[in-house]
Amino acid sequence: MGQDAGNDKVVEVFDRMAARYEKQMGLFERFVLGRARQWAVAQAEGAVLEIAVGSGLNLPLYGSQVDHIVGVDLSEGMLDIARRKVARADTARIELRQGDAQALDLPDDSVDTVVSTFTFCTIPDPKLASEEAFRVLVPGGQFVLAEHGPSTNALGRALMRVVEPLSVRFGADHLTRNPVPYLVDAGFEIDQVERTGRGGIVFRVLAHKPGTAAG
Ligand SMILES: C[S@@+](CC[C@H](N)C(=O)[O-])C[C@H]1O[C@@H](n2cnc3c(N)ncnc32)[C@H](O)[C@@H]1O
Repeated sequence: MGQDAGNDKVVEVFDRMAARYEKQMGLFERFVLGRARQWAVAQAEGAVLEIAVGSGLNLPLYGSQVDHIVGVDLSEGMLDIARRKVARADTARIELRQGDAQALDLPDDSVDTVVSTFTFCTIPDPKLASEEAFRVLVPGGQFVLAEHGPSTNALGRALMRVVEPLSVRFGADHLTRNPVPYLVDAGFEIDQVERTGRGGIVFRVLAHKPGTAAG
């Protein structure tokens, strides 16, 4: 599937799913994924880009170590829910935009942290998204990623592969995509890969763009 067709499919799936997304995700997090989202947000600092921000589940979790947050997503249906959260809570420091994680409308070397929670499973081309995250991060900037991927358990992995064609077709969700090689190929140095969640399906990854900030 080409990137445009891939993006169209993402928009179709998530616009349709938006109203029930948080309920479904809440159940997955409670019973399978654990607190990876909370972990990811706690790593962020400075100027933050959140790719594929979705319905904004992370937005209320950012602490005072974060100055500014830009959240981008392809789906206006998901963004509408996120916008309602911002209107209610934190305001001046959060900016939400319709945008593509594979072609970011941000300058080079402009953010301190890129946050990605459960996005690489649906982004049509995670290689491009990794390269774009690398481009916009300042040297030394951090990529924080919480994602699901192939279970560390052989039976769990096999089951996920059986179900995957359906999850891709109906949910644009690649259940067994390992996010780490995309980051390595984009030039990131990997600092941590921790496997958590039921069956070890969660990746908690910390990576950074080599170099140190100028000045
Ligand atoms: C499973 S949801 C995760 C949402 C949110 N990050 C969270 O943790 O709840 C995946 C999101 O990725 C978005 N998405 C997929 N491909 C994208 C892309 N290329 N650019 C921006 N957003 C994208 C979808 O619209 C959807 O909101």
